[in-house]
Amino acid sequence: MSAVLSASDHGELTRSNDRDWWRQAVVYQVYPRSFADADGDGIGDLRGILSRADYLAALGVDAVWLSPFYPSELADGGYDVADYRDVDPRLGTLADFDELVAALHERGIRIVVDIVPNHTSDKHEWFQEALASGRGSAARERYIFREGTGPDGSEPPTDWTAAFGGSAWERVADGQWYLHSFAIEQPDLDWNHPEVREDFLRTLRFWSDRGVDGFRIDVAHMLTKDLRDPLPSAAELAAMPIDGTHPLLDRDDVHEIYAEWRRLFDSYDPPRTAVAEAWVATDRVPKYASPESLGQSFNFDLLRAGFDAAQFREIVTDNMSLAARSGSSSTWVLSNHDVFRHATRYALPLIEETDESVPNRHGGGWLEAGADETVIDRAGGVRRARAASMFLLGLPGSAYLYQGEELGLHEVAEIPANQRQDPTFFRTHQAQYGRDGCRVPLPWTRSGSSFGFGAGGAHLPQPSWFADSSVQAEEEDPSSTLSLYRRAIALRHELVADEDLEWVETGRDDVLHFRRPNGWEIVTVFGPMPFGLAPDSARRVVLSSAAIDGHLVPGETTVWLAGG
Ligand code: NOJ
Repeated sequence: MSAVLSASDHGELTRSNDRDWWRQAVVYQVYPRSFADADGDGIGDLRGILSRADYLAALGVDAVWLSPFYPSELADGGYDVADYRDVDPRLGTLADFDELVAALHERGIRIVVDIVPNHTSDKHEWFQEALASGRGSAARERYIFREGTGPDGSEPPTDWTAAFGGSAWERVADGQWYLHSFAIEQPDLDWNHPEVREDFLRTLRFWSDRGVDGFRIDVAHMLTKDLRDPLPSAAELAAMPIDGTHPLLDRDDVHEIYAEWRRLFDSYDPPRTAVAEAWVATDRVPKYASPESLGQSFNFDLLRAGFDAAQFREIVTDNMSLAARSGSSSTWVLSNHDVFRHATRYALPLIEETDESVPNRHGGGWLEAGADETVIDRAGGVRRARAASMFLLGLPGSAYLYQGEELGLHEVAEIPANQRQDPTFFRTHQAQYGRDGCRVPLPWTRSGSSFGFGAGGAHLPQPSWFADSSVQAEEEDPSSTLSLYRRAIALRHELVADEDLEWVETGRDDVLHFRRPNGWEIVTVFGPMPFGLAPDSARRVVLSSAAIDGHLVPGETTVWLAGG
């Protein structure tokens, strides 16, 4: 199977010569509002990303995935889209977008954008029209409106719960209710409606024509729904198998949509790529990842696992055979904009193995609101995160990185309630922190206004410890996490070969060792005890923590050995 651009190809893209660039790409996720702020209004923007294009090139990534940058009221961090074919004026203009695409392409970096098809913003012109046109109108048919229950219809149609807490239905002024699987401000679209289908094709063409190389499809498993009356209760829904016939989730008919999208993607040269964010049972992933469908699907198993050798090995083995079944490549993710950063997950206290249901070591838990933060082992968390990331970057398949993980950033827990933004925090009555802590604007410099994020403030407060994790501080330190990522990503261009690996038995439960077909070897020690390795220090090209002795891999460390 052909691999990503080799180091010598890295440079300006030849637009049509590599259909398979995505198979083993390093894709770096930018959350635009928190990456870099060029105009000093406290919100990151497209020109901010443009100003950091050289940083992305120095990091060596193959592609940048932009989370939504479209006009939005920010009820859900931009995943409430008011116009799919424009740029939020606070983030820039379409001309800025074109400039950014050109700047990335000049540096050999592809660009992937986020498409949010399950729901629009309630500020989208279609929803505004639906509200204005009233019950029974054609405008309401693009969404999912129902009458309420109870004598006066004042109860929601069902007892379903939205993903961010509270009812999944919201009542409008004339008494009807609409479905929102996520925030109230995110009404679900009705994908039976031909205009909905047509409009998304237009959107995909719009961005493809502007030079976008691929798409990340938000909650790809939720678009189609069977909402015939009588609607089932939440308990009835929960008891139904999710086997392609469930009324709300992972329905087989969603693939009719993606087959149509695939035809559109394949009409471009090179074909546009897509990756599904599909939270589905393992055996159903290949449907989304097949070449007739989106072509690739996220696998979040590592992100949900503890820092544990047995779990990592099983996940890698399972996902590689799954990818082979669809003809796709595996995807690996440890962090994104929706979860606690992995440095912090791995910093939480060790969970003892009490029974089969708690097999985790570090990283089995999530920081809850009100948790005792003094128990967080920050240094240990970063050490384990570095080891896990180097393990991930050594694997065949595509590596999805989240902005700031290359700095070893921790989750920011210390955000006052009145500055939090995530609907999860409010809809759970502050019981869950939600996702603001991984979306705090990045620190670029040790000091200065918003640590170099921009000339003004930052839309979420940055902690003082950001100084030592800033790009400036880490660029000066050859042992920093940033230096480690840069080195590993540069070497990865040599390491990627056939999409295969062979496990080498280590005789220790807490040590994983695999060999790539070109002879490169990766060894990760998950436990605290060092592991003895045949002495061959010349082959040791990446080490995720300080060396202790040429023959030993320190505890909680990954080493890369170059091909012999
Ligand atoms: C998944 C996105 O990653 C998340 O940020 C968003 O809140 C939901 N989909 C709803 O769009």
